[in-house]
Amino acid sequence: MNLTREGALAYVKPHLKTSRYEHTVRVVNQAVELADRFEVDVYQAEIAAALHDYAKYKPLEEMKRWILTDRRLPKDLLDYHHELWHGPVGALMLEMEIGLNDAAVVSAITSHTTGKKHMSKLDKVVFLADYIEPGRDFPGVDDVRSLAETSLDEACALALKNTIVFLVEKGRTVYPDTFHAYNDFI
Ligand SMILES: [Fe+2]
Ligand SMILES: [Fe+2]
Repeated sequence: MNLTREGALAYVKPHLKTSRYEHTVRVVNQAVELADRFEVDVYQAEIAAALHDYAKYKPLEEMKRWILTDRRLPKDLLDYHHELWHGPVGALMLEMEIGLNDAAVVSAITSHTTGKKHMSKLDKVVFLADYIEPGRDFPGVDDVRSLAETSLDEACALALKNTIVFLVEKGRTVYPDTFHAYNDFI
């Protein structure tokens, strides 16, 4: 893969709103910091972070078509909130469009919103960077930031717990992969 951080950011920029692009840049910086701290490949972390929200604003009908037609995408995504679609669909779009072929990076983009069973350290870094980047301001985020100073697993476990509790309290469904990810840490 000969994509650079700058190249990846330039590729996603026209597809994102300004605020989302700025979020993406903060996720890249956060992911690099975490990768450095927890001995994860910094290059893979910055590329995955730069590309993670690529499909955020793709038309729902287009994402739905991908889910229905690509064998690799679980059909049950359609039963859950469309907010969960942009990770898995975006990863496959990038495979097709720019030849993104690093399976570890594809996995981190795929699972950045929901988590999944048996997350790799790279998956955890991108998931966590998206959750704690400095622009995030929601109840509990500072506790996750504190844990992220020392433990990748403890920080991810709390982020997943907060996510599940938030969704349950709002009366929303929880995608099974989020439970699978959480259970792995407990
Ligand atoms: Fe996202
Ligand atoms: Fe994001």
